Amino acid sequence: MSATVPVPSPGELFLLRDHAAVVTGASSGLGARFTRLLAGAGAEVYAVARRAEKLTEVTAGLPNVVTVVADISSPEGRQRVLTELGNRGATPDILINNAGTSGPLSAFDENGEEFSRVLGVNLTSAYALTRDVVMSAEDPSGMRVINVSSILGLVSGAPVGGAGYAASKAGLIGLTRELAGQWGRRGVRVNALAPGWFPSEMTTELLADESSTKWVARNSMLGRAGREGELDTAVMFLASPYSSYLTGQVIAVDGGWTAR
Ligand SMILES: NC(=O)c1ccc[n+]([C@@H]2O[C@H](COP(=O)([O-])OP(=O)(O)OC[C@H]3O[C@@H](n4cnc5c(N)ncnc54)[C@H](OP(=O)(O)O)[C@@H]3O)[C@@H](O)[C@H]2O)c1
Repeated sequence: MSATVPVPSPGELFLLRDHAAVVTGASSGLGARFTRLLAGAGAEVYAVARRAEKLTEVTAGLPNVVTVVADISSPEGRQRVLTELGNRGATPDILINNAGTSGPLSAFDENGEEFSRVLGVNLTSAYALTRDVVMSAEDPSGMRVINVSSILGLVSGAPVGGAGYAASKAGLIGLTRELAGQWGRRGVRVNALAPGWFPSEMTTELLADESSTKWVARNSMLGRAGREGELDTAVMFLASPYSSYLTGQVIAVDGGWTAR
């Protein structure tokens, strides 16, 4: 390999100054963390969620964060994101499809309507927003899309998970590969993150319950759930322009859950 390419400093690898990012589901949990992380790295962040007051709370004091109150499962909500970007003349080069919801855990309790609702938020809206954002860019080359899937898109989590949830997360992995294939030559990179169990609104009940916590510990090689901040490096890696030869991949950050 040529020795003429300068070696970047560790700081440079993760510097996102002059980059713009859209983070959906930014009002709590993982998305709130990703918003703070990217803003801290210097990116201008468009933080999207439905709850205005939670968004304000999460983004208070952060430099370069624009909050967008929108339901991304509706065309109007997605249009609001595009309008906000357009009004500010911003072309995001990072899109984190993180907004998510869950449904009933038992397939006997999850009817078709509920199944579709979960797929609508977790999968269909991620596809529609990604397509809108990529198509609205004059030159999408260099764009990084990060789809927040789950270990439940890779393996069954029964009795925890849910049919709609698992299908949506597995669907996101298929979508990641397909879009990576279709758009690779345009310079758009699409990857997925598959977290294990992390504290958030979605997992509050599970991680507060002693027997569930033991179940999580028993099935993780590291013997515990993930902690706040333990997705930081993976997200920064996927968001960095320096991961330029990586696309169509799923990175599981799960304490070894899926390696058993
Ligand atoms: N925590 C985990 O252990 C874990 C593991 C694997 C994968 N994940 C995935 O990580 C992502 C974040 O989840 P979380 O654990 O951080 O849960 P969370 O705290 O419940 O966050 C979910 C976020 O999605 C937003 N959201 C939901 N529906 C939306 C909609 N229609 N339009 C816009 N925003 C919407 C919520 O904001 P509003 O209610 O304000 O709209 C909230 O900010 C999800 O995709 C989840 O499936 C989480």
